[in-house]
Amino acid sequence: MNPFAPGSGLKPPALEGREAEIEAFDRLIVRTKRQAAERGMLLSGLRGVGKTVLLNNFAAQAELHDWFVC
Ligand SMILES: Nc1ncnc2c1ncn2[C@@H]1O[C@H](COP(=O)(O)OP(=O)(O)O)[C@@H](O)[C@H]1O
Ligand SMILES: [Mg+2]
Repeated sequence: MNPFAPGSGLKPPALEGREAEIEAFDRLIVRTKRQAAERGMLLSGLRGVGKTVLLNNFAAQAELHDWFVC
């Protein structure tokens, strides 16, 4: 199966190679809940590398923890 689905911001069939970022964001959520020091995250990269798709994934992760996402 090709994990690529052409189209800006379109959710791919498989979000490949983002395990570290997804785990880091989960850690950020847990630390923030505990009011532990956390530095936030910044996604940067050339057009098409997957920032929007990853950000949308983060939004879904945050909503699972009852965060308000806008
Ligand atoms: N981790 C990934 N695995 C597979 N395809 C991806 C992944 N991240 C992004 N894509 C695909 O790449 C394309 C560009 O993603 P997008 O999030 O719009 O990039 P950016 O916001 O950085 O310009 C989209 O077609 C998207 O489905
Ligand atoms: Mg984008």
